[in-house]
Amino acid sequence: MNLVLFGPPGVGKGTQGMRLAEEFGLAHLATGDILRAAVRDGTGYGIQAKAFMDEGKLVPDDIVVGMIEERIEGAGTGFLLDGFPRNVAQAKALQSMLARHGMHIDRVVFMHAPEDALIERLSGRLICRACGFSFHRQYSPPRVAGRCDRCGGELYQRDDDREDVIAERLKVYRAQTEPLLAYYQGSSGFRQVDAAGEMPVVYAALKQAVEG
Ligand code: AP5
Repeated sequence: MNLVLFGPPGVGKGTQGMRLAEEFGLAHLATGDILRAAVRDGTGYGIQAKAFMDEGKLVPDDIVVGMIEERIEGAGTGFLLDGFPRNVAQAKALQSMLARHGMHIDRVVFMHAPEDALIERLSGRLICRACGFSFHRQYSPPRVAGRCDRCGGELYQRDDDREDVIAERLKVYRAQTEPLLAYYQGSSGFRQVDAAGEMPVVYAALKQAVEG
């Protein structure tokens, strides 16, 4: 099975995508995570991407499309795309790369929640440096402050989860990613999930959308 999860920053794509990928045995391909790893490792891509990410802007399409194509080729049992495509040009590039590899997307799931909830989620988020698992200071705090429940790794706040960068990311989302709704809405695999509720409720709705 091949899935696309898309929606605004902070809606829960990473949190829920990680669980869905584990349960359905899919490769979790999160462009934000891949780019942050490239920045951390100081690769050519990472150096180019950092300035865009720090400002809450999209990284140029050619960088991101190339990264995804490499990984899709290696995803044997299926993949879950989280954070890609991010604009209509990337959606078209995805369609052509899948056609080249004889693959297709089974579900495109759009997750949505009110903007005040997104801002609250992003500003309270903590992430494990070692395994990437997400926590929230209020909604899902770690058992031991500053440490990951899963692997004991150190928790940190993302550079782009500052108030001014969050505002820019939401602006970029509305201008560049929201048009994907019109692009995908008519297709038979399109599903929409209300992600404003508590995590287990959202997860159940996502599972239903994926399986139904
Ligand atoms: P990326 O890392 O993809 O960031 P994003 O899309 O802005 O999404 P987030 O990771 O911020 O949010 P999420 O929806 O995954 O929420 P999460 O599950 O963590 O991209 C970062 C940057 O990389 C971009 O700005 C851009 O520069 C670049 N980039 C990435 N992809 C690109 C592309 N394709 N093209 C060009 N550039 C690209 O949840 C958030 C918090 O809320 C967590 O603390 C979580 O615990 C909590 N939470 C989750 N669900 C709930 C719930 N139901 N109730 C309460 N709390 C919840």
